[in-house]
Amino acid sequence: MFNIYQTQSAKIISVDFESVDTKLLRLKFLDRTRQREFDFLPGQFVQIGLPGWGECPISLASSSTQAKNYFELAIRGVGKLTNRLLELEKGDLVEVRGPYGNGFDVDLFKDKPLLLIGGGCGFVPLRPLINDYLAGQMSNTVLQIFYGCQNEENLLFKKEYHLWNRRAELNVILEKPSSKWAGQKGLITDLLKNWKITADSVAVIVGPPVMYRFVISELKKKKVQEENIYLSLERRMYCGLGVCQHCAIGPYYVCQDGPVFRWADIKGIGGVI
Ligand SMILES: Cc1cc2nc3c(=O)[nH]c(=O)nc-3n(C[C@H](O)[C@H](O)[C@H](O)COP(=O)(O)OP(=O)(O)OC[C@H]3O[C@@H](n4cnc5c(N)ncnc54)[C@H](O)[C@@H]3O)c2cc1C
Ligand code: FES
Repeated sequence: MFNIYQTQSAKIISVDFESVDTKLLRLKFLDRTRQREFDFLPGQFVQIGLPGWGECPISLASSSTQAKNYFELAIRGVGKLTNRLLELEKGDLVEVRGPYGNGFDVDLFKDKPLLLIGGGCGFVPLRPLINDYLAGQMSNTVLQIFYGCQNEENLLFKKEYHLWNRRAELNVILEKPSSKWAGQKGLITDLLKNWKITADSVAVIVGPPVMYRFVISELKKKKVQEENIYLSLERRMYCGLGVCQHCAIGPYYVCQDGPVFRWADIKGIGGVI
């Protein structure tokens, strides 16, 4: 049993470009037992750091089915630490602790059609759910993926879409695509409006906060139950430690009680989305 508050050294075993500003790092703990016993739920995150640079929360991007051997993080360079992390190469070491957060309780999704709705780089925590589904770990009857992004350059995990399309239904929409884009153009809500969604679906939403209200409104028009809508409020977090109070919503701290919440449980909290 490992202490999740203790950092452990992990080695970068591969680095791949995912988009214009994001790389996918595959990592392995130096301590083999730690790696073998590493386990997490989709939607959980780790704190990754470098001595002298600090640490930051990053969602786990791989499937827990691979966690005995490695884990993956998709990191977007936006500031001091993340840009430094993107300079690292295969063989370099980082410090990792976790996993943290409640993650998605996939037992609650069982045997129902599953809708994954992701916007921008918020899409990352949905990839473990997709990988688990493709690995036969989830009993959902259907998987529909809705992914909205700015343009082709920002799309994540492009190399995997052909695999996702084999067993799931992937729908991508771009807000400002290039003239070469042959797919759909607009906002993610435009996609949802025009798609057949069954009322007994479970919906998982991750993305920029502005997206949530409009997506939930579309889902309600499709008669999806509020009890079956889950969202991650990770963008509300700052310190991630229960100290700064930045993430307080009603009686909850997102960093302590979330980041995943059921819409039915938080819809009455003013300004929550
Ligand atoms: C639960 C959770 C999960 C997350 N998962 C992921 C993930 O999977 N992948 C991912 O990439 N990120 C993820 N993030 C976000 C990530 O933690 C932040 O991007 C990271 O903390 C930024 O750290 P930094 O030191 O690089 O940025 P900082 O230097 O601390 O900068 C913070 C912010 O300030 C802005 N900023 C920095 N420098 C400048 C400047 N010179 N001019 C103007 N603005 C500036 C940037 O926009 C940046 O957003 C997650 C966050 C949370 C809370
Ligand atoms: S993020 Fe600081 S208290 Fe939750």
